[in-house]
Amino acid sequence: KKSAPMADDIRAAKGGTPLVSLTAYTTPMAQMMDAHCDFVLVGDSVGMVLHGLPSTLGVTMEMMIMHGQAVARGLKSAMMVIDMPFGSYEESPQQAFANAAQLMAETNAGAVKLEGGVAMAETIAFLVARGIPVMAHVGLTPQSINTLGGYKVQGRGDARAMLMADAQAVSDAGAFAVVLEKVPAGLADEVTAQIEIPTIGIGASAGCDGQILVVDDMLGLFTAFKAKFVKRYAHLANDGEAAIAAYAEEVRARTFPAQEHTFADEVPAK
Ligand code: KIV
Ligand code: NA
Repeated sequence: KKSAPMADDIRAAKGGTPLVSLTAYTTPMAQMMDAHCDFVLVGDSVGMVLHGLPSTLGVTMEMMIMHGQAVARGLKSAMMVIDMPFGSYEESPQQAFANAAQLMAETNAGAVKLEGGVAMAETIAFLVARGIPVMAHVGLTPQSINTLGGYKVQGRGDARAMLMADAQAVSDAGAFAVVLEKVPAGLADEVTAQIEIPTIGIGASAGCDGQILVVDDMLGLFTAFKAKFVKRYAHLANDGEAAIAAYAEEVRARTFPAQEHTFADEVPAK
């Protein structure tokens, strides 16, 4: 087994074979993807895809720690990155450090991720200087949905220069990689060419230095809605419902359990 990459290994992958990443929230999902991903993100998307929350704003430190610990138990060869939840880092670099340190200490993550560009540059530099690798996240930042005014494409028109400035700021602040979410492909390519750290695309461009998807989206497990940038590689919610319907029918018909699923009254002869 190769040992898991660290933040510097991810940074060094700039311009090479694209980095592969998915989110995970549980041990079995982490085990499923461990051999195939360079890093696994314990995303705050957990609130929407596993807990039924309407946005990521209600996700707590406790939820992130519990899911982070579960994911860590399922990983051997992929790096684990964990999202800082809404309200745990925006107030000050000191607040961010206290909560990032708790996430790292209690989950054994190799890095944290936080949302924001220019506005978070000082905080990113503060964490990195104190031993906490930071993955940044710019473009559509779902924790800011109430000020962004919806899950819209970011960085078009006048916003192009701002998006570029955000990406440059997190790179200059010492982030080891940056997620670009829902930005035009040409702009994503320009950012990728411009900054020194890997860009991880989601709704961005195949030219990014890596890609990430929410695992429940790509497996077709989360079906409340589907963003344009989601490709469903499987339809597990459909398969699961069909399986449950078959079980219900067999229970009502008394064809489940069959003899092979039951126990004889006498100890069977060897
Ligand atoms: O929470 C999440 O799943 C994320 C990824 C979509 C980048 O932040
Ligand atoms: Na997130």
